[in-house]
Amino acid sequence: MGVKNEAGISTQSLSRLMTAAAEARERAMAPYSQFKVGAALLTKAGEIISGANVESASYGLTCCAERVALFNALTNGKRDFTAIAVVARASDGPMPCGACRQLLAEYASDAKVFVADSRRLKAVKEFSVRELLPGAFLDFRPA
Ligand code: THU
Repeated sequence: MGVKNEAGISTQSLSRLMTAAAEARERAMAPYSQFKVGAALLTKAGEIISGANVESASYGLTCCAERVALFNALTNGKRDFTAIAVVARASDGPMPCGACRQLLAEYASDAKVFVADSRRLKAVKEFSVRELLPGAFLDFRPA
């Protein structure tokens, strides 16, 4: 079983997840910002699905790594995410943007969010989706 952190994820799984995010980051398409981000989701079944940011010359079309990973996972039938790792060259680790927080609240609300600088993958910061987006918009039906 190994040692588990607060999120109940083994140190080995966390390390695999951070590595997967770092590897995905290498595949980022970020010719405009040069800011490469990688993300990797972990499912309850132990599967890892990753993604990286993709930028467009029409800047607003850019999609963040977290959403690319999430859309990749969801459209491949993956569910029940226990964690997402996000890695970029950012000294305090890359914090997910508001749009990605919204999608995580909708499709990965129980996932722990682990962020790390790509140069120090072991220095991981951990958040819950709820603390990143309190009061998320989840229901559009009239009361
Ligand atoms: N980016 C991500 O991939 N994830 C985030 O959480 C924040 C920002 C990307 C989008 C864009 O390609 C680049 O980082 C600079 O904003």
